[in-house]
Amino acid sequence: MDHVPRPLQARRTAGPLRGTIRVPGDKSVSHRALMFAGLAVGETRIEGLLEGEDVLRTAAAMRALGAEVIQDAPGRWRVAGRGIGGLVEPADVLDMGNSGTAARLLCGILASHDLFAVMTGDASLRRRPMRRVTDPLQACGARFQSRAGGRLPLAIQGARDALPIEYTLPVASAQVKSALLLAGLNAPGWTRIEEPEPTRDHSENMLRHFGAEVLVEHLPRGRAISLLGQPELRAADIMVPGDPSSAAFPLVAALLAPGSCVTVQGVGLNPLRKGLFATLREMGADLAVTNERLEGGEPVGDVTATYTGLRGADVPADRAPSMIDEYPVLAAAAACAAGTTRMRGLQELRVKESDRLSATAALLAVNGARVEIEGDDLLVHGGNAPPPGGGLVETHMDHRIAMSALVLGLAADAPVRVDDSAFIDTSFPGFAALMRGLGADLS
Ligand code: S3P
Repeated sequence: MDHVPRPLQARRTAGPLRGTIRVPGDKSVSHRALMFAGLAVGETRIEGLLEGEDVLRTAAAMRALGAEVIQDAPGRWRVAGRGIGGLVEPADVLDMGNSGTAARLLCGILASHDLFAVMTGDASLRRRPMRRVTDPLQACGARFQSRAGGRLPLAIQGARDALPIEYTLPVASAQVKSALLLAGLNAPGWTRIEEPEPTRDHSENMLRHFGAEVLVEHLPRGRAISLLGQPELRAADIMVPGDPSSAAFPLVAALLAPGSCVTVQGVGLNPLRKGLFATLREMGADLAVTNERLEGGEPVGDVTATYTGLRGADVPADRAPSMIDEYPVLAAAAACAAGTTRMRGLQELRVKESDRLSATAALLAVNGARVEIEGDDLLVHGGNAPPPGGGLVETHMDHRIAMSALVLGLAADAPVRVDDSAFIDTSFPGFAALMRGLGADLS
């Protein structure tokens, strides 16, 4: 079916943004919950699952592989797993839509199952590199055939008797790490992955939660994660925290609109996802965390953002993995801050849902902000006031570019329009309604 673009415009209001909200469940945790539950024995109940399109693709794929995946009520799901090695050959092509996480993690699962599968995705996903997972996964015995450059569609013949993999990641990527761990579940012995910087550890946490043995060593640079293969994964209920990457949008909006105060309840506060909050604090933001608690093995809390002026900051490259999805909205904040913000080491942004480094620079430039790309760094020269705005932002099928542009539009002098807001539903269904509830003018 042809995609019908949904333009959307954000305009500054006279009043502040105020209110207490919850954001949808964490995307990374939601994908993993469905996948690990599908590989466990017994029935897992999942509470707070993100019902964005990306995660619904994972749900459909796990069903196609034989798991029973049932929605009982909004956010409340049940998965009857098939046990490790128990997935069945899918009868049709697996369409992962816009989701790199779904596609890459699923490659890991399929690599160590003796079955044939074909995977595709939308135009954005079909542009994204898959060799970063398929190259190392070949070491377990899987075979992949893809379009030039390792792009989807991809045909996979999983290994009959998978071997465990030892691999050092050339780039810090939680998706690649997770794909290799998922493959290692159905291989005898230890799978061992070294990562150059610590990346989000939801897979490690969830593997333990389901009963697998996972060891983490801290290395002089990065970490090594070892998984003992062929464990008996037992069904275990999961509470999905609110997505900190989604909470970023209303929180930054509050930091940019004078007089605002917004609380997001139940936000996931995994230390490997908190880079944006650390950076905003360095920029002078008033961000308070209350009610910190553990929910289903992940730290969560209520985060309140109160308007303050922001100043520029130097964001080190080694912080990138802990805020990799937050740079576009940070750039919007930096455009309103006093002085220059330099965000270092953003090469990975080039292979997200869009070339997010260029798309972020373009979104600022078209709205009159001063921005430069220097090598892999993004420099935003804030004017100690919101930029003029008035631009039409090309979102390139990228949900985070769309939401970041709209957040900027809530502060800019003139309205900001995005060419297509439809992809917001991949990660943050209900975004516009939630923002309107805080007082935002989105039309
Ligand atoms: C994710 C890891 C990150 C992130 C993505 C979700 C995950 O990607 O950008 O939105 O759930 O593992 P990379 O592993 O490519 O950095």
